[in-house]
Amino acid sequence: SRNVKLAVVAGDGIGTEVVEQGLRALETAVAGSGVEITTTELDLGARRWHATGETLTDQDLATVREHDAILLGAIGDPGVPSGVLERGLLLRLRFELDHYVNLRPARLFPGVRSPLADPGEVDFVVVREGTEGPYVGNGGAIRVGTPHEVANEVSVNTAFGVERVVRDAFARAAARPRKHLTLVHKHNVLVHAGHLWRRTVEAVNAEFPDVTTDYLHVDAATIFMTTNPSRFDVIVTDNLFGDILTDQAAAITGGIGLAASGNINPDRTSPSMFEPVHGSAPDIAGQGKADPTATVLSVSMLLEHLGLTEAAAKVEAAVAADLAERGDRVRSTAEVGSDLAARIAG
Ligand code: IPM
Ligand code: MN
Repeated sequence: SRNVKLAVVAGDGIGTEVVEQGLRALETAVAGSGVEITTTELDLGARRWHATGETLTDQDLATVREHDAILLGAIGDPGVPSGVLERGLLLRLRFELDHYVNLRPARLFPGVRSPLADPGEVDFVVVREGTEGPYVGNGGAIRVGTPHEVANEVSVNTAFGVERVVRDAFARAAARPRKHLTLVHKHNVLVHAGHLWRRTVEAVNAEFPDVTTDYLHVDAATIFMTTNPSRFDVIVTDNLFGDILTDQAAAITGGIGLAASGNINPDRTSPSMFEPVHGSAPDIAGQGKADPTATVLSVSMLLEHLGLTEAAAKVEAAVAADLAERGDRVRSTAEVGSDLAARIAG
């Protein structure tokens, strides 16, 4: 038997509601398989910040590091100033745990309506760089609040950081039937970073000769994501472009209620973290109506990352079956969770 130590950051708003259902799916998927899940609930997020002023302490981080993986719900409420928890908690976790692959699948499941009239088959995955780019906070402002204010956000791109994420994206592309990788950037304007990314893709391609590649400027990528999303297989891109593109990808595949993600450390030097792409949705929090599907799909990614492939497949199949049949039915968070658990249990 194997023990998996899972850190759970349910967080705020609907985070706690969807995580409850995610854990239910997780427990059900491994039941009888000899895998035992031990969970540690971590009190992180807006509630803790309001009470103590703390976002993520060194002690919290040390505790997190003792685990095999992290399941995160959602962080934040309108009472916390913008940026405090984003930078102090969520991004700090991604950076400190070196989650350099922010993996965001975009799949239009059968039965799910896309806002696109004729989406075709949509099944791609975005490998969003997770530790660099404009997210590093390497910037500053002077003369703030004056007409002479200067505000800089400097995008940091290192050869080391770009190469490792590009290599991961190639490996993912090589393992997929279409074996295609699209680099998205803006090297006609962001010439320094853009050409580093372009050269890196060219160089790493030599290690993956059966993977075909193409390149799109990010603005053109948004057009194709609307007009011809079937063309994408694996997309690799920087942290900010990836943030924006994956919201668009979620929108065309049924909305952020279905969008899962993994903040992955492929080298396994620290626990990877799985979370729905959506936020804490304070407008519907506490009403038991949030869709837990994105969290359950994130649980499937978590299981896959832990090598529990069979359990991962069961969870994904349960979601696919539920989506195929849900139509316009309105169910509570708990109802969706128990329907999914029943399907996982088979
Ligand atoms: C996401 C979110 C975060 C991001 C925010 C909350 C910092 O939008 O996970 O996509 O920009 O990465
Ligand atoms: Mn985002």
